[in-house]
Amino acid sequence: MDYKNILISFEGEIGVLTINRPKALNSLNIETLRDIQEVKNNHVCKILILTGAGDKAFVAGADIAEMKGMSSLEALNFSKLGHSTLKMIQDLDRPVIAAVNGYALGGGTEIAVACDFIYASENARFGLPEVTLGIFPGFGGTQRLPRLIGKGKAKELVYTGKMVNAQEAYQMGIVNRVFPLASLMEETKKTAAQIAGNGVVGIRLAKMVIDAGFNMDLTEACSLESYAFSFGFTTEDQKEGMTAFVEKRKPNFKGK
Ligand code: CAA
Repeated sequence: MDYKNILISFEGEIGVLTINRPKALNSLNIETLRDIQEVKNNHVCKILILTGAGDKAFVAGADIAEMKGMSSLEALNFSKLGHSTLKMIQDLDRPVIAAVNGYALGGGTEIAVACDFIYASENARFGLPEVTLGIFPGFGGTQRLPRLIGKGKAKELVYTGKMVNAQEAYQMGIVNRVFPLASLMEETKKTAAQIAGNGVVGIRLAKMVIDAGFNMDLTEACSLESYAFSFGFTTEDQKEGMTAFVEKRKPNFKGK
């Protein structure tokens, strides 16, 4: 499959999706969002890493040049396209790690936050500068970010439009780990490989239960966990994982 604005590569069971518009700092236009949506239908891997081309930007936001002349209805469609793309990433039946390698502004912070977790390089910058453009976030910045870091911190970022560096983003709970730019991908791949070596079914169920349970009340969420937990006992991975433990050997998970 040929994409105009993204690159896809594979190393064993790890897929890497690179947003590839470096001249526009990998900003998200309509075509790029559509390319990202296609990935779901065309590629299989155990774990996906999302990053940006070059060493300056992960994603510098939605494409301002494209948005500039939009009517209100076009802006609605654009926001909906952004939301469906980010929801697709969030709901992928495998983990997605964002490797944020530079500016992650506006739609860049929003797409990173839609991933399962974020690793960042020391030169990464996060922020929601939409208010400096006379608008406000439209790809989930007012919704996913408050759920991740709390309303007060999210409001401060949304209202000020200020950028925070990787360490500040780490302290705020946006980012899990920070690495020098040169080692970001290597470190992200190490974690990806560790995840890929575990039982895929268990990971998929865990992702589903964590995400679905997050907005439920605790009793319902724990009940969902119990049913999903019991489903795990219908799989070959469960038999293999526990048999391997008892036999004191490494498990050979098949993802079934
Ligand atoms: N859209 C379109 N083009 C962009 C872009 C964007 N979001 N961000 C950068 N570019 C383009 C610039 O126009 C420039 O193009 P030219 O070389 O053709 O002039 C090129 O990328 C390089 O950018 P700069 O020259 O500006 O680079 P810099 O190092 O001086 O600054 C920056 C880097 C601080 C990231 C700056 O580019 C910037 O502020 N970008 C915009 C960030 C932003 O406001 N993002 C939010 C967008 S709105 C949004 O995302 C809405 C939403 O929620 C859906």
